[in-house]
Amino acid sequence: MERTFAIIKPDAVAAGQSGQILAHIQKAGFRIAGMKMKRLSQLEAETFYGVHKERPFFGSLVTFMTEGPVVVLVLEAEGAIAKWRETMGATNPANAAEGTIRKMFATGIERNCVHGSDAPETAAVEIPFFFAGTELL
Ligand code: RTP
Ligand code: MG
Repeated sequence: MERTFAIIKPDAVAAGQSGQILAHIQKAGFRIAGMKMKRLSQLEAETFYGVHKERPFFGSLVTFMTEGPVVVLVLEAEGAIAKWRETMGATNPANAAEGTIRKMFATGIERNCVHGSDAPETAAVEIPFFFAGTELL
């Protein structure tokens, strides 16, 4: 079994879509090993997306990710990292496949409703960034 880290981003939480997204996650076959709702601080958002700090969209991304509460999740499944990327769909919802979460709920390339770790090394950093081992089921 593999674990990945996911976020329901502030756009989807504010739009009241968390429940539908969680239902979709469970229907897709993930076990929810960790879940909490929280507001990211500026420092948390900057650190979390630090890999993008030279990108032109970095400032805007940090503003977006701190505009309201998010739901942070640890999802477990076989091949969870790749499976969750597939379940989310492409970064830009215009390119996301039918039936993916971003196709259904994202409103733009930035306001794309969910995050997912992109590799095992990323998941290994992102999960403990938000969860103590004792918080996971
Ligand atoms: P994420 O890290 O959130 O799971 O998304 P991702 O891997 O699909 O995309 P990534 O390239 O890592 O970008 C991180 C987030 O930055 C915002 N973004 N905005 N304005 C833009 O051109 C642009 N490109 C990316 C999105 O919120 C994206 O998910
Ligand atoms: Mg990414």
